[in-house]
Amino acid sequence: MQLKKIAVFVGSLRKESFSRKAAKALIALAPESLALEIIEIGELPIYNQDLEETPPDAWTNFRERLKGFDGLLFVTPEYNRSVPAVLKNAIDVGSRPYGKNIWDGKPGAVVSVSPGALGAFGANHHLRQSLVFLNIPTMAQPEAYIGGAAKLFDEHENLMNDSTREFLKKFMAAFAEWVAKYSAR
Ligand SMILES: Cc1cc2nc3c(=O)[nH]c(=O)nc-3n(C[C@H](O)[C@H](O)[C@H](O)COP(=O)(O)O)c2cc1C
Repeated sequence: MQLKKIAVFVGSLRKESFSRKAAKALIALAPESLALEIIEIGELPIYNQDLEETPPDAWTNFRERLKGFDGLLFVTPEYNRSVPAVLKNAIDVGSRPYGKNIWDGKPGAVVSVSPGALGAFGANHHLRQSLVFLNIPTMAQPEAYIGGAAKLFDEHENLMNDSTREFLKKFMAAFAEWVAKYSAR
């Protein structure tokens, strides 16, 4: 079994973020073939193409670090039916300078999270639009729209609902297969 390194991105900076709790649950439920790590994106300066002549260290470190990963897991809330700016910014930073897209070819998956009933469907699919352009082969099924997120976790961040736990476990098993398939190419 070859261990695959997966970078996990959380589209929220909030301390009590449901998305971050979901990301931690996904990490805990992942099969042993995946080594997952949350990559912090809150300190990346907002993308400005003028800065590419002498890029901020945070951009350079982020771009270099990402080279060492085999796959990508995006766990995001929805802001105004779209992707929160902090996550879009990280995607933009990784995509440039032109011709040096660090995302290129790395297999990915998307989990969207909301306290609302729609499970952040809008963010999930807006994000997929960018991932297509960046050539991130993104797992189609199972889809993960996690609604009712405010009622999913207890005070220790444990999932309270067996059916959600089972679903997230299956999702991560499918993602491990997806990553293995793409890495073998
Ligand atoms: C600027 C803003 C816009 C939001 N827009 C949406 C939205 O379009 N759809 C939705 O389901 N929730 C929306 N919400 C509510 C978020 O789902 C909620 O704040 C959630 O807790 C954010 O995710 P987090 O817990 O991971 O921080 C919005 C929240 C903010 C702050």
